[in-house]
Amino acid sequence: MNILTFRTNDELNIAGASIITSLVQTNPRAVLGLATGSSPIGIYEEIINTFRKNMVSFRQVTTFNLDEYVGLPKDHQESYHSFMNRQLFSHIDLPASQANIPDGNAADLAAECERYNRLLEDAKQIDLQILGIGNNGHIGFNEPSHSLISGTHIVELKEETREANARFFNSIDEVPTHALTMGVGAILKAKTILLVVRGEGKAEIVHRALTGPITTECPASLLQTHSNVVVLLDAEAGKYF
Ligand code: GLP
Repeated sequence: MNILTFRTNDELNIAGASIITSLVQTNPRAVLGLATGSSPIGIYEEIINTFRKNMVSFRQVTTFNLDEYVGLPKDHQESYHSFMNRQLFSHIDLPASQANIPDGNAADLAAECERYNRLLEDAKQIDLQILGIGNNGHIGFNEPSHSLISGTHIVELKEETREANARFFNSIDEVPTHALTMGVGAILKAKTILLVVRGEGKAEIVHRALTGPITTECPASLLQTHSNVVVLLDAEAGKYF
C-alpha cells in the first residue's frame, strides 16, 4: 500500500488528478470507478482543468459510480446523478451513455442491481477505483456489518451515515434511508484503488482501517487485502501515520 500525505489540498488534488489523467492518456478506453462525497471534488476540478487544456479526452472512457440513494429523483440536487453531472460530467467530453450510475429510483431495485452487476461483468475490470471512506469505515455505501455482500445490492443506511450526510439536506428526515451500492467484491476487483481522505475527523478511522484488524465491521479495512492501493491523505487525515 502506497500511503501519501500532502501538505496542501492543491498538491493532493494535482497528484490525484494526474494519476487518473495519465491512466486515460495511456489507455483511452480505461474503465474508471467514481465516487461522490466531498473528498474527490478537488480532484475532479483538477481533471476538468487538465481537460480544458486539451491534455486528455474521456470520449472512449467508461465510468461506474459506486452508489446512489434510493428514492431520490435523478434531478434531485443531492442525488449522486446530479452530483456527478455538477462536479464532473457536464464539464468533460465523456458520452452520457458511457457513464453508469445505479438507478436508485428504479421500480424494481433488485432487477436494477442485477443490471448493474451485468454491466460491471461486461466491463471485465475497473482499471482505477476512486474511493472515500465514511466516518464509520464504510466504502461506497457498504456499511459495517457482521457480513459483507460482494455484488451490487440494496443497503439500509446506518443512522450515523444519515447524520453525516444530513448536512446536504434541509433536515435528517429528508436523507434517504436506503441506497444501492456496488459491493466490496466489485470494489476489490479493481486493478488499482485510489483512496482519498481529508480532514481531522477521518484521521482515526483511516488509520484504523489501514493498520488495524481486517474486519467486516470496518469495510475499508478490507483494502489491506488488495495488492495495489494508493492512499492520498491531507495533513489532518494523515496525522497518525
Ligand atoms: C458517502 C458516500 C461514500 C463516501 C462518504 C464520505 O457516504 N456514499 O462513498 O466515501 O460519503 O464522504 P466525504 O468524502 O464527504 O467524507
